Amino acid sequence: MIEIKADFLKSSQTPKQCPPANVPEYAFVGRSNVGKSSLINMLTGRKNLAKTSGKPGKTRLINHFEISWPGKSDKSSWYLVDLPGYGYARVSKKERSEFQKLIYPYIRNRENLMCLFVLIDSRHSPQQIDLEFMAYLGQNGVPFAMVFTKSDKSKPVALEKNIEAYNERMLQDWEELPSQFLTSSAKIQGRDEILAFIEETNPLFKA
Ligand code: GTP
Ligand code: MG
Repeated sequence: MIEIKADFLKSSQTPKQCPPANVPEYAFVGRSNVGKSSLINMLTGRKNLAKTSGKPGKTRLINHFEISWPGKSDKSSWYLVDLPGYGYARVSKKERSEFQKLIYPYIRNRENLMCLFVLIDSRHSPQQIDLEFMAYLGQNGVPFAMVFTKSDKSKPVALEKNIEAYNERMLQDWEELPSQFLTSSAKIQGRDEILAFIEETNPLFKA
């Protein structure tokens, strides 16, 4: 188990209020309730670091966490960022446009954003809102990876089928698939893979 040091740094209401973009950053985005905050807690090994809830719409601000690896020779820190979710069944038009006003400029302009992790519930068939969001990322040159969440909620065969179907749908829009991770925050699956990805990506950051 990789040892991680994680501290809550700041909640910001606007991109301007966010901490200086002077260390590599990884943000988590996706539909409300997909498991963004839970994944941050799973990765950091801190149950209540990011606030989670059974009800969608829990995370409302841009939340920065400062992370480092005490056991590694590289002592420099980096950020994990918990973002509000986009769209769920009961979200109002107004709230949806608030997300767009806050998050779209953030992900387009944040200079230290090394990769945006787009979370997808592994139980569902491809959803228009996620496909459109990833298309937007492609159009704006935002680097992203896909994270399938809640793998513990399906049987392995169903899970494999869902992901296969998802990738078939992705390949209608994309020439190649982005990096992908299969995770369960409940069963701690996918942690090593995501952390290895971050460790490989961190040195590409230029201050
Ligand atoms: P918003 O902040 O509202 O956008 O939601 P979020 O994406 O941050 O989701 P959150 O982490 O709050 O999790 C939503 C619900 O899903 C909670 O009840 C979690 O306990 C549950 N959950 C998250 N990840 C997993 C998982 O891997 N497995 C299972 N079984 N439940 C999960
Ligand atoms: Mg959340």
